[in-house]
This record gives sequence, structure tokens and C-alpha cells, in this order.
Amino acid sequence: MEMVNTVIFLPVTVWGTAGTSKDRMIVGLQISLSKSGIKCKEDGKDMAKEDQVEEITEAEIYERFAERYAAQDVPWDAELPPPEIMAVVEEQKPGRALDLGCGYGRTTIYLAQHGWQVDGVDFVPDAIAEANRRAQAAGVADKASFHVGSVADLGFLDGRYDLAIDVGCMHALTPGQLRRYHAGLKRLLRPGALYLLYTRLQENAEPEADGPRGIPQAEITRLFSDGFTLDNLEIGITEMADRAPWKSAWFWFYRL
Ligand SMILES: C[S@@+](CC[C@H](N)C(=O)[O-])C[C@H]1O[C@@H](n2cnc3c(N)ncnc32)[C@H](O)[C@@H]1O
Repeated sequence: MEMVNTVIFLPVTVWGTAGTSKDRMIVGLQISLSKSGIKCKEDGKDMAKEDQVEEITEAEIYERFAERYAAQDVPWDAELPPPEIMAVVEEQKPGRALDLGCGYGRTTIYLAQHGWQVDGVDFVPDAIAEANRRAQAAGVADKASFHVGSVADLGFLDGRYDLAIDVGCMHALTPGQLRRYHAGLKRLLRPGALYLLYTRLQENAEPEADGPRGIPQAEITRLFSDGFTLDNLEIGITEMADRAPWKSAWFWFYRL
């Protein structure tokens, strides 16, 4: 018997300890990258859990997100982006920005409202349609361009960006997509550009039976040691209303 685990984490997220400077509100979705069977026997022997895990396909990941948007079941929908992004707006002068997995466009619209020229990319057309509607309503349609496309195939974008932001998208990529995503960012970011990433970290070698795995911290730093330098890393705990807390992190990479 096979059990398909799709895990959506809700945006009730507290980062760090209340009352300290580490307070953060993060909005994140995580979907399981694996289909894992329940523990079962084959030829009389217990199968190792890893043996039962298949990589989820890109098409399956897309279907899961598309279904959620079609059902308007979008728990990461919020008016404002996380404070880490607002801090960038305060610290950096406006330029060109890329919002990877933009959803309804809260980061794109916020940046556009602060003078940035932004491209938001998401592979779900319903999300992009709503992002366009919201950018129009916010009066920033001239500064916010939304694209239906995969963050793993950014060939449709050109030029040099000063900033790329990913809140909760990268950890949904397959290993193959992840390599293409990294190559796309290397091509598109100008030297010195900031790449700000929020992601779930995979804590155990073994995939969880009922939850997402995230990406191992070492895998992220290994991949981005090619072409980027890690300036800052904040590891925290993301708490959800209905699930056990999980380890997550913000990465501040700069393009070399
Ligand atoms: C957790 S949501 C976060 C949305 C947005 N970043 C925010 O903070 O509101 C992750 C988004 O990534 C998008 N996504 C996941 N994989 C993608 C891919 N390969 N290409 C483009 N978008 C993707 C999903 O459709 C979804 O909108």
C-alpha cells in the first residue's frame, strides 16, 4: 500500500523567542518532496524507509500547488512580506528585483511600492492572475511584472538583477530543478546582488512519514558556494498551528 503525503504548513510562524530582536513572522508553505509508503514488508524483511521513497515529479508538485490555488486554499496569503524583506527595502536603494515563487505577489508589490522594478515568477496561472489584479489595485502595475513560469527555467528573463527573493518556494524543488534554479540565478544576478532565501531545513537523513523534508543546510551552502558567498544565516524554528515545529532558515547570499 502506498500513502502519498502532501503536507501544507500554515503561516502561523514565530521565529525566535518572543520579546527579543529575533521575533519574526514568517509565512511559509512546505510540500512534501517525497511519496513515502508506510512501513511494510517485502520478502519477509522490513524495507528500509529510504527504499520506499520516490522523488516526487515536477508535474506532481505543480498539481499540488495548482489545486490549492484553485480551491483558494492559500494559507501563506498575507498583505505584507516578512520583516527580513522589509529590512532589505530599508537598507538597499531600489533597483531590479526578482521574486521567485511570488504567489499572490505580496513581496513583488511591496518592493514595487518602494521604487523597485520587480519581476514576479510563479508557475500557477491563478496565482499570477491574482497578483496582477492586486498590483493594479495597488497602483504599481507599471513596476510589477508577473510571469507564469518555473523558477527552475528562468530563460525567459534577461538582464541583470540587484536582488532575488525566495520565500518558501525553493524547498519545493526537485534536485534537478534545484540545479537549474541555481544556474538561472547565477546568470541573472549582477555581482554584488543579494539573494535572500527563506526555506525549511531538512533535519534528518530519513524523510518524515508525514511531513516535508526541506533541504539540508549543507546542500544549500554547497550549491550556492558556486557563484555566491554566504553573508548571514539565521536558523530558527517555524511553528504552525497544527503541526510540530520545524527547523527553518534565512540565508543572505551575495553574488560574486
Ligand atoms: C509558500 S508559497 C509562497 C508564495 C510567496 N513567496 C509568498 O511568500 O507569499 C510557494 C510558491 O512557490 C510557487 N512555486 C513552487 N514551485 C515553483 C516552481 N518550480 N516554479 C514557480 N513557482 C513555484 C508556488 O506556486 C507558490 O506560489
